[in-house]
Amino acid sequence: MAKSKQIYVCSECGAEYTQWFGYCKECDSYGTISEEPIEQKNSGFSRGGWQSNTRSGGRADKTAKPRVSLKFSQINNDVQARFPSGYGELDRVLGGGIVPGALVLIGGDPGIGKSTLLLQVANQLSQRLSRILYVSAEESGQQVKLRASRLGVGVLPSEGETTNGNGSKKSKSAPKPEEKPDNDLYVLPETDLEEILRELESLKPQVAVIDSIQTLHFSSLTSAPGSVAQVRECTSALMQVGKRENITLLIVGHVTKEGAIAGPRVLEHLVDTVLYFEGDRYASHRLLRSVKNRFGATHEIGIFEMADKGLVEVDNPSELFLGNRDELAPGTATIVACEGTRPIVVELQALVSPTSYTSPRRSTTGVDYSRLQQILAVLEKRVGIPLSKLDAYVASAGGLGVGEPAADLGMAVAIVASFRDRIVDPRTVLIGEVGLGGQVRLVSQMELRLKEAAKLGFKRAIVPKGQSLPEDIGLEIIAIAKVIDAIIAAIPSERSGE
Ligand code: TYD
Ligand code: MG
Repeated sequence: MAKSKQIYVCSECGAEYTQWFGYCKECDSYGTISEEPIEQKNSGFSRGGWQSNTRSGGRADKTAKPRVSLKFSQINNDVQARFPSGYGELDRVLGGGIVPGALVLIGGDPGIGKSTLLLQVANQLSQRLSRILYVSAEESGQQVKLRASRLGVGVLPSEGETTNGNGSKKSKSAPKPEEKPDNDLYVLPETDLEEILRELESLKPQVAVIDSIQTLHFSSLTSAPGSVAQVRECTSALMQVGKRENITLLIVGHVTKEGAIAGPRVLEHLVDTVLYFEGDRYASHRLLRSVKNRFGATHEIGIFEMADKGLVEVDNPSELFLGNRDELAPGTATIVACEGTRPIVVELQALVSPTSYTSPRRSTTGVDYSRLQQILAVLEKRVGIPLSKLDAYVASAGGLGVGEPAADLGMAVAIVASFRDRIVDPRTVLIGEVGLGGQVRLVSQMELRLKEAAKLGFKRAIVPKGQSLPEDIGLEIIAIAKVIDAIIAAIPSERSGE
């Protein structure tokens, strides 16, 4: 008989407790622990793993050989090659293409474009690979098709052969290959995990998109879809089938208001790769970042633009983040940020003005708030600019998130330029970290940054003194040791001592 017991689970991190607490000591959050029933499963699924009951009549495959450990030298080298997704920006973030059998989690705020991206990727893949399955647990078949026709995705199942379109349990009939042999993109509007697992086992797609993990439902668990228990069990069941059948799974996960994928630690441990799709909903560009990758470097970014016909790759992101070069406002400076291995030239804008509050306002968009505070203090103490009674705002063009210290020098110069109401030479880039003593520190990947600036037609670069530089970079290099020297070099009027 099914025996049920209660456990208490933190909805933020998935930590489990045997009794209720108001505070989760694993992730330092308050009021996130709630009761969840854990039931002994009597279906084909258990914590030990999903056992198919479609292939072997409900029994585990008795012919399967027991696993034995191998000597390292016995493991053969012929790993399956990665395959391209059809989008160079996605391939870059994945570390050079999709790894067969990998489990990739793609997180992001609602409405940012995850479904759009994955439908486009599924379509691209279906042109080169056989059998791509798009499991839509949020939208009906008709809704997916509506989006697809807007995106120009032409190879979807035609009317009459899919489902009742409401994503309910009964809509299990994804078209079988024999029904439409020329069509390799299959849509399954379904929320029931067991139906999805069965379809994965029978269709054996090369790639399956699950949109989204929070709307899947495993009927043997009584907790609601999206709860930590559901998300964890669904992901691990999908992973087992994916690894066994060598199906690459691209799973969509929604992000909580704190910016983490619901049930984050549980999921991030399970999956091979975690990507975040982010951006300002009101701006057109979207960034795809990798935060965990078993098969490549993290911190790579891919850049897309949301157009009226879906997402378009941005090949030259610097142009997007440079703003209008002809009408420069006072208080603008240009930096070269480096995201992973990709340099991006970004315009920073600063505005300082007398405050009408008792304590001045400081605000940032795209840049780090605490670095702004620090730079204001350095400029006041080391350069002698009285900023403590002024409001200060700093923003990066397009709101691109620039967290790295190499942006410090540009931020400092932009603030001084706004204070003095001067225009910084628009063909100069500033790269360097500012220390608390007003000294300028070396930064990494200088060569990449300078090459990008030269490529975009910049003429001068103000860089930290002592930085080893390649020859013939095509830029006039001004090496400085202190932030005051950068200000004098970058702001024309400062040179003439005005
Ligand atoms: P969607 O992929 O549904 O987001 P998510 O799955 O992350 O919730 O993206 C929907 C948004 O994208 C919606 O606000 C409309 C916009 N959009 C376009 O601007 N152009 C398009 O061609 C499409 C399909 C969507
Ligand atoms: Mg969606």
